[in-house]
Parts: sequence; structure tokens; C-alpha cells
Amino acid sequence: MNKLQGKVAIITGGASGMGEATARQFAAHGARAIVIADVQDEMGQKVAASIGSKICTYIHCDVCDEEQVKNLVDSTVKAHGSLDIMFSNAGIGRATVTFDQTALDMDLSAYDKVMAVNARGMAACVKHAAKAMVEGHVRGSIVCTASIAASVGSENFADYVMSKHAVLGLVRCASLKLGAYGIRVNCVSPGPVGTPLLKGLLRYENEEEDKVVESNHYLKGGALRPKHVADAVVFLASEDSEFITGHSLAVDGGYKPSV
Ligand SMILES: NC(=O)c1ccc[n+]([C@@H]2O[C@H](COP(=O)([O-])OP(=O)(O)OC[C@H]3O[C@@H](n4cnc5c(N)ncnc54)[C@H](O)[C@@H]3O)[C@@H](O)[C@H]2O)c1
Repeated sequence: MNKLQGKVAIITGGASGMGEATARQFAAHGARAIVIADVQDEMGQKVAASIGSKICTYIHCDVCDEEQVKNLVDSTVKAHGSLDIMFSNAGIGRATVTFDQTALDMDLSAYDKVMAVNARGMAACVKHAAKAMVEGHVRGSIVCTASIAASVGSENFADYVMSKHAVLGLVRCASLKLGAYGIRVNCVSPGPVGTPLLKGLLRYENEEEDKVVESNHYLKGGALRPKHVADAVVFLASEDSEFITGHSLAVDGGYKPSV
């Protein structure tokens, strides 16, 4: 434990799912300050309060709006003196329930919305976190949430798949540019995890969530959970990975495509 002793971290999309689980793991590992940024204010505030207001705070930030991202980073540095870790994790699965976003049937305004959060929002978070780290002479760690969808295709969800391929490209480019400053940039690439995002993406209603998740990995012994992803993020955020950069760390239990 205490792999993140004294560190200051931002987590976007921290009100739910893997972001929330990671906020809890960062606290368990001794982070000094954790700032949760999300658009679900009530949920974000509840998560921050349950972790403890001395180390965890919530700020409203829509990652589609670069000014809000800049304000998130600037206010964190102002309040805590520096930024050591950016976990850029906010994402959406789909922006339309009517279309499955196939190559034949793509609603391009829904495509724009998915790309605005998952690709453009991720770029804004990496950019402003990196600027603060460079200015503060911090050899920080930036971790993005990509996905198994960053490296395999799907008949459906083409916009989501494209947005996650973009995250991988961003991580590869940013890790090269920021290496000169000692800043590492990596991503986690989870397989399907039972969160509100997955439920919305796959539209399962009556099936048991763990069964849906377990059908997507070869590894037996339970379903892939947010905590498994959070543990991988702690590794990438900490000194344990001090010479790893530009890497996509799969957390998928051996991905088995079922959709
Ligand atoms: N659940 C999965 O199966 C899975 C698999 C691989 C990757 N991912 C990725 O993991 C990340 C986290 O998703 P999750 O599965 O924990 O889902 P989730 O829905 O539980 O959490 C996503 C969070 O992002 C927030 N968010 C959405 N749009 C935002 C915006 N514009 N600005 C700020 N916050 C915003 C949501 O309010 C929510 O709290 C996403 O990037 C997702 O694409 C999920």
C-alpha cells in the first residue's frame, strides 16, 4: 500500500464505475489530494464525501469544454500546489439509442458527440495536465482509459471503436513528446466491465450483468470488475511503472468477443 503517498491526482469520470473505483484505490494508496471531475454532480459529491472531504473533492467539469478542463487543472494546482497524476477516464458508450452505428447506418451527429467526449475530451485533459506538469517541473504520470475497442473492430458501435482507437494514438504521440520532461503517458484497456456505460452500450436489460461480463473473458474465477482496472491504474500512476510509457495495459481476463 501507499504507492501514491503524497500525490495529487485528478480523475475525470470519477462519479461512477472505474473512475470511482480508482478514486477509492488512490485514497487507499495514500494520495494527498484527489479531485473528481464529472458532469453527474450529485453522484460525484457523494463519492468524494464517502472517501473523505480532507483528501477528496468534487468539481463539475464537462471534458468537451476546454475552458472547463483548463479550470479543473488550474484550480487543482492552485489548491494543492502541483499535479502529479491525471487519470483521464471520462467517456460515453453511445449518443443514440436508435442507431447501432454501423458502417451502413451511422448517425453522424451522434458520432460527433461520442468523439467530443471520448477523443477530443481526452486530448484536452492530456494537454492541460501536461502543461501544468511541465510548468511545475513535475515528472508526472498521465493515464487514459482506452479499451479493448482500441485495438479490435466491431460491426456495431463504430463511433465508440473509432474514439478508443484515437485514445491509443493520443497516448502514443503524447508519450513521445512528453518523454523529454520525464512525464509518462499510458492507458488502460479494459474489456467489458459491468458499469452504467456497458449497460447503455449493449442494451442488456434482463440478463444477469456478471454473466454478460464473464462471457467476454476466458479467465475463470469471477467477473472483471472496476477494482481490477483501478489496480492497473495505480500501477501505471506509481513508481512501480517508472520506465513504462506509451503503453496500453490490457485488463480483460483474456478477451473473448461475444458481440
Ligand atoms: N464499462 C466497460 O465495459 C468499459 C470497457 C472499456 C473501457 N471503458 C471506458 O472506461 C471509462 C469509464 O467508463 P465506465 O465504464 O466506468 O462507465 P460509467 O458510466 O460508470 O462512468 C463514466 C463516467 O464518465 C462521466 N462522463 C461522461 N461524459 C462526461 C463529460 N463530458 N465530462 C465529464 N465526465 C463525463 C459520466 O458521468 C460517468 O460518471 C470510459 O472512458 C469508457 O469508455 C469502459
